[in-house]
Amino acid sequence: MIKAIKGTRDILPPESALWSRVENTAREILALYGFAEIRTPVFESTELFARGVGEDTDIVSKEMYTFEDRDEQSLTLRPEGTAPAVRAYIEHQLQQESSIAKLYYLGPMFRRERPQKGRYRQFHQIGAEVLGSDNPAIEAEVLEMLQFFLKQIGIEDQTLLVNSIGCPVCRPRFLEELKRALAEKKVQLCLDCQRRSETNPLRVLDCKVESCQPVIDSLPKISEFLDEACRAHFDKFLGYLTSRQIPFTVVPRLVRGLDYYTRTTFEITSGVLGAQNTLIGGGRYDGLAEALGGPPTKGFGFALGLERILLVLQQSEKQVAAGPAQLFLAPLGEAAFEKATLLARDLRQQGIRCLLDFEARSLKSAMRLANKLQAQYVLILGETELQTGRYLLKRMTDGTQREVREVEIPAALRGVAVPVSQG
Ligand code: HAM
Repeated sequence: MIKAIKGTRDILPPESALWSRVENTAREILALYGFAEIRTPVFESTELFARGVGEDTDIVSKEMYTFEDRDEQSLTLRPEGTAPAVRAYIEHQLQQESSIAKLYYLGPMFRRERPQKGRYRQFHQIGAEVLGSDNPAIEAEVLEMLQFFLKQIGIEDQTLLVNSIGCPVCRPRFLEELKRALAEKKVQLCLDCQRRSETNPLRVLDCKVESCQPVIDSLPKISEFLDEACRAHFDKFLGYLTSRQIPFTVVPRLVRGLDYYTRTTFEITSGVLGAQNTLIGGGRYDGLAEALGGPPTKGFGFALGLERILLVLQQSEKQVAAGPAQLFLAPLGEAAFEKATLLARDLRQQGIRCLLDFEARSLKSAMRLANKLQAQYVLILGETELQTGRYLLKRMTDGTQREVREVEIPAALRGVAVPVSQG
């Protein structure tokens, strides 16, 4: 048997309905905040991610699905959506359209990580990017939008963590101090961190290995090294969060796993998830457009992991089940079946979710099936019913049934009073 590749999953009904609900809610809320959808290709030139995300990051150095095309060009399945969105913004000169571009995307991303709960090799993100503004009020607005989204889909247990990682002016001094401190404690670090302390010392800060934690706690904090402009930006951002009544925790070691970040970084975590508890991650990336060969463009954005959102929803009781059919049509005999096909068409056109039984079966087994499918009502079409034009409508929750004419069906399903007889 051929199976799905390790780290990938099929999204099946009824779970797929929950996916749609989350995606639709996100689209509605993103539109309320002025974001428009962008769809970029699933593969890009490898250089885009090497330059955008950074050669020394885990993503680029060990997790990318990279392959050589027949013309020897190196291609990579996108591990994230920010670099592609900024590439498209530069390529199509979207800055000319308006001073601020607000773009969102939704789709699969690929990282060759070790699969575990909440971590897959193909996973799905909804992400949004604001290009062309360095105003911290934009950052607070995006976080307000995320709070609204989480509330709308029914996720209450979540925590917002924020930090500022400075800018290319003030960060080098911090990195120097960090390197110096790390060199002194190198032997106490895990092998990965020993390497990182040379190549990318910031990454040591979010190492999860137990034995590294006491060292990390003793390291210098970026907040002590922010220059005046970065400090003022961060203070304003925190002020805007406070005035919007958005609770947050400042976490000095929050550095994120991608190299393009400057100043504000954030994560939203959920206690319901295990080790992979970050639902949403994002931040500011004021140097990315230039690094990709575009005009200087400030940027801020986020991406949420849909699988993780779904894991949280599936664990909470608030989850709205995928809507089962409102009406199951049970025709008895061939003439009734013909009638049922046309009736189903007409009812669906009136917005009623119908299921039609295509197998010839007894009334008893049709009822059993309707029950299994959790249909709310069953409409029985037998020979007598065809002749009289009055059908038997059975409510599955309590077994009550009534006779209805064709035109009465939609109203009866919507609960409008029609004489009910006990069945
Ligand atoms: P990221 O933190 O790498 O950021 O990913 C964002 C979210 O994608 C994570 O918080 C998580 O929910 C989900 N995610 C990441 N890797 C996996 C995985 N292997 N399996 C399942 N879910 C995963 C970015 O990708 C940035 N582009 C976000 C951003 C946009 N920053 C600015 N703009």
